[in-house]
Amino acid sequence: MRNVMLALLLCLVTAGSLWAAEENCIVCHSKITPGQVQDWRVSAHAENDVTCSECHGDAHTSAKDVAKAKLPDEHKCQECHAEQFEQFAHSKHNFGWTSLNAMPITHVEPDELMEGGRGCGGCHNMGIKTEAQKKELRAKGYRYQNNSCDECHTRHSFSKKEAQDPRACQQCHMGYDHPQWEMWSSAKHGTRWFAREAGRLPTDAKAPTCQQCHLPDGNHSNHTAWGFFGVRLPLPEDPQWKADQITILKAMGVLNPFTGEPTPRLKLVQSVDMIRSTKEAFDTERNKMIATCKKCHSEKYARTQLEMGDSMLRKADHLLAKGIRIVAALYKDGILKKPTEYAFAYPDFLYFMRTNGAKIDGMSHIEQVLFQMYMKHRMRTYQGQFHVNPDYAYWYGWAMMTKDLGEIEELAHTLRANYKVNHK
Ligand code: HEC
Ligand code: HEC
Ligand code: HEC
Ligand code: HEC
Ligand code: HEC
Ligand code: HEC
Ligand code: HEC
Ligand code: HEC
Repeated sequence: MRNVMLALLLCLVTAGSLWAAEENCIVCHSKITPGQVQDWRVSAHAENDVTCSECHGDAHTSAKDVAKAKLPDEHKCQECHAEQFEQFAHSKHNFGWTSLNAMPITHVEPDELMEGGRGCGGCHNMGIKTEAQKKELRAKGYRYQNNSCDECHTRHSFSKKEAQDPRACQQCHMGYDHPQWEMWSSAKHGTRWFAREAGRLPTDAKAPTCQQCHLPDGNHSNHTAWGFFGVRLPLPEDPQWKADQITILKAMGVLNPFTGEPTPRLKLVQSVDMIRSTKEAFDTERNKMIATCKKCHSEKYARTQLEMGDSMLRKADHLLAKGIRIVAALYKDGILKKPTEYAFAYPDFLYFMRTNGAKIDGMSHIEQVLFQMYMKHRMRTYQGQFHVNPDYAYWYGWAMMTKDLGEIEELAHTLRANYKVNHK
């Protein structure tokens, strides 16, 4: 009996001290924000005594001093997850916020969409912000969005399994500009994953996810060989392809269109890792990808597939370069006038964000068609090819590019004819 009493007492004391440790935050927040407390309770953090105050500090204790609660950035996570932090710090994701803010257009869009995180800023919140960037946020009155780890491991469950689900990538990698979600989910790799999820394939059947190909073995450092813009230095060896990529780099404002010399923009795009600058950087990514495919396919099969992606890009580049040259010739002959924003009388793809809405002053319809050809249809062509999606590669991609080129030729013809009439 005495032993039982003692044990009971011990239990109460232990429970009491645990309770005391969490008392303030948990007790009060169970009423204030019960959902968050519940979410934390189901997390690995709760299991391991990583409490509210560990991340938010203990300076705030009541409704009167809420501003004293810290909002933890990635460095807080780093204290216990140094490996993932390091990998993330070297990832392409880490450039999300910086590359967004490097775009001239960002600064004329509503803040709610940027700092507020509903438009561009909702997806580009990825990246460890510098002190200067945070200061700018706070000065505008934006207090949240300090952490990118919770973009895949949403708070406060901070779950590994959630981040392994391809749907964790969907919010950002979908839709108009970069429909990888649509490509993957409607191609065989994705449909098999869904079939397995629904129990129609055995649980150990193979179906590659975004994560398996892009964060292989849990590595948080995501890069791809071609990147989003599908250009690279060093240039391809094939002479035609090389010439076409040079034309595209000129239209990106990275090479001076008249001298071919690099412009200051080259440094800018290199600083956010928009293009692979060395052969090694390209090959490293390519070989990593092959190693992933090889987990299921033969190496020969995998190489053939990826080389097909490259040669599709080469063909898409040729159509695009033709389009660029037609529009550039209109500038050269004085038929199109240089918009004030442009550095050169030459198409400037970094103004692509305005393709589908307000035009920048003086941007012509023919150039809008050219921008769509680049930003939308060329991307679908090669991204669809790489993601093994026939519909995207052809109907949304290649077929639209050929249509764009036809339209550009037709429009140039009309513009030239009109110019002749008006300048008789
Ligand atoms: C007596 C009640 C009470 C206690 C104790 C308490 N909080 Fe709060 N907390 C609040 C209230 C009220 C708010 C404001 C909620 C709102 O804006 O709707 C808040 C807000 C917060 C916020 C959000 C801050 C923001 O800028 O939006 C965090 C984070 C937070 N608390 C963490 C903690 C942590 C960690 C502890 C323990 C160290 C704690 N709280 C203790 C009542 C409490
Ligand atoms: C592992 C770290 C971690 C722990 C533990 C943690 N939080 Fe948070 N919490 C965060 C992060 C990250 C944010 C988002 C910060 C931002 O947006 O800048 C956040 C945001 C919040 C917010 C404001 C945003 C909102 O959705 O309302 C509140 C309130 C909050 N936490 C309460 C709590 C409470 C209560 C606990 C304990 C039950 C807790 N947190 C435990 C990391 C943590
Ligand atoms: C005080 C240390 C500490 C801090 C700070 C911390 N964690 Fe953890 N975290 C842990 C421990 C302990 C575990 C459980 C063991 C493990 O998986 O390493 C864990 C587990 C995790 C897991 C795996 C969960 C699962 O489902 O298996 C994720 C994801 C995670 N933490 C993310 C974060 C993020 C994001 C932050 C910052 C907002 C953070 N952690 C801050 C200690 C911490
Ligand atoms: C729905 C989410 C989402 C929105 C909204 C969004 N982006 Fe993006 N953005 C992405 C993703 C995802 C990528 C990477 C795509 C890829 O590699 O295929 C990207 C890529 C970029 C890149 C190229 C980065 C690089 O280095 O390759 C720039 C620049 C960019 N976005 C700017 C913007 C601007 C400016 C806006 C708003 C006008 C915007 N984005 C809106 C998700 C988004
Ligand atoms: C079977 C492997 C595989 C799967 C699964 C996969 N990808 Fe990819 N992904 C690739 C390959 C291959 C490339 C092109 C790599 C290169 O540049 O050489 C690529 C390229 C990308 C790029 C860079 C720009 C582009 O689109 O070409 C992004 C972003 C991307 N994938 C996101 C995703 C997302 C998000 C998912 C899931 C919805 C996904 N991928 C599923 C293999 C895969
Ligand atoms: C792009 C999505 C994404 C982002 C952003 C992200 N993670 Fe992860 N994280 C994952 C995936 C996917 C896994 C599961 C990896 C695996 O399958 O082993 C994971 C796993 C983890 C784990 C569990 C490791 C283990 O095996 O137990 C921790 C801890 C973690 N991440 C911390 C972080 C931290 C800290 C950050 C921010 C610096 C972060 N993650 C940002 C996708 C992400
Ligand atoms: C919160 C939005 C968001 C989420 C969630 C997200 N991404 Fe991204 N991702 C981006 C943005 C933005 C970029 C472009 C970064 C930049 O501007 O430099 C990007 C870039 C990439 C790239 C690099 C493409 C290149 O140019 O080489 C890959 C690969 C990628 N993401 C894969 C994933 C995978 C896989 C997941 C899910 C585990 C995921 N992302 C989740 C927003 C997101
Ligand atoms: C986790 C296993 C796995 C990985 C990794 C994987 N695949 Fe697959 N892949 C499959 C399965 C399963 C199928 C469907 C059965 C088949 O056609 O072999 C498939 C089908 C394909 C197909 C044919 C699709 C069709 O419509 O007929 C191609 C092409 C392909 N994969 C290319 C790749 C490439 C390229 C990579 C690497 C970037 C890759 N796969 C990585 C499992 C995988």
